[in-house]
Amino acid sequence: MAQLVAAFFSSVLIFSLFSPGKSLSLNYYDKTCPYAESIITNAIKNAASEDKTVPAALLRLHFHDCFIRGCDASVLLSSKGSNKAEKDGPPNVSLHAFYVIDNAKKELEAWCPGVVSCADILALAARDAVVLSGGPSWDVPKGRKDGKTSKASETTQLPAPTFSISQLQQSFSQRGLSMDDLVALSGGHTLGFSHCSSFQKRIHNFNATHDVDPSMHPSFAASLRSVCPQKNMAKNAGATMDPSSTTFDNNYYKLILQGKGLFSSDQALLDAPKTKDLVSKFASSQEAFRKAFVNSMIKMSSINGGQEIRKDCRVVN
Ligand code: HEM
Ligand SMILES: *[C@@H]1O[C@H](CO)[C@@H](O)[C@H](O)[C@H]1NC(C)=O
Ligand SMILES: *[C@@H]1O[C@H](CO)[C@@H](O)[C@H](O)[C@H]1NC(C)=O
Repeated sequence: MAQLVAAFFSSVLIFSLFSPGKSLSLNYYDKTCPYAESIITNAIKNAASEDKTVPAALLRLHFHDCFIRGCDASVLLSSKGSNKAEKDGPPNVSLHAFYVIDNAKKELEAWCPGVVSCADILALAARDAVVLSGGPSWDVPKGRKDGKTSKASETTQLPAPTFSISQLQQSFSQRGLSMDDLVALSGGHTLGFSHCSSFQKRIHNFNATHDVDPSMHPSFAASLRSVCPQKNMAKNAGATMDPSSTTFDNNYYKLILQGKGLFSSDQALLDAPKTKDLVSKFASSQEAFRKAFVNSMIKMSSINGGQEIRKDCRVVN
């Protein structure tokens, strides 16, 4: 009981700190930096044309940003002195493409110095990444501020790939996000790549009675075991989250229904009736998924945080 009460109050606390901002607006830069969005879109298009892994990286950066201290670009800050930043925390594998944000910021500073926040660049970059991958487009509310703090230790607040459905629900609800948001946003895993470490426990020594997680399709498990052996694994070994990993589509949900979700946290979406129904719905309707994804992205990217407009996305002013 005491535990329940404590859990309740801590979620109220986190929720009130990070409640969706009401100060964002669609026309925020219309007067102060009218070309802001096209400058950002250009920077991202240029980078993505050189490196196909850029869109996935940008989408994941925005998610990580929003889940720690709100969408305040804390994920972009560099470690300084004895302070180890989020970027250098444990779940940082595969966080990359920071240079793309730097390039956009440099261009923005030339046109309209001190106006566009790094947090807004991340939110717009995530939208552009989805569009460039064939996903839906949407108008991004803007006006976020950048934070002044980034701590590696706080990355433990991110949901882990080993999470169960109830742990996922708790992690999302602490940020004002629902089970519907959880299922729709998990669809971000239609893009990108994962290192073996994120699913290794599912394919070797799962538990005392099963070597492999029994919720995983046997042929899928066998293919993962061949790229991620228990020993002598290549440092960059891993698997794409979805065979069509540069195309934003609803294949992710079809795979889960076949027992081919990569992480426990993906496969766990079948473990509650409500989330299971949504997985089926999105697997059978690309349109339903696209609508829900847009709706939930706007919600996630409105979790507020910061205080200033950074001049350089890697350091506080
Ligand atoms: C539901 C909880 C979530 C968990 C537990 C989770 C976990 C992970 C993990 C472990 C990786 C692979 C890291 C690696 O091994 O390299 C990953 C990659 C990725 N995640 Fe998530 N994630 C979650 C939600 C999200 C959300 C909400 C989005 C965006 C809407 C997202 C977008 C991505 C993308 C695009 C990648 C690929 C990154 C790349 O290829 O560079 N994830 N996620
Ligand atoms: C990730 O964190 C480790 C330390 O935990 C650090 O050595 C490494 O440079 C970081 N990687 C990135 C891409 O920032
Ligand atoms: C191993 O995991 C399976 C599936 O989650 C479960 O049914 C089984 O009871 C577990 N075995 C042990 C010894 O925990």
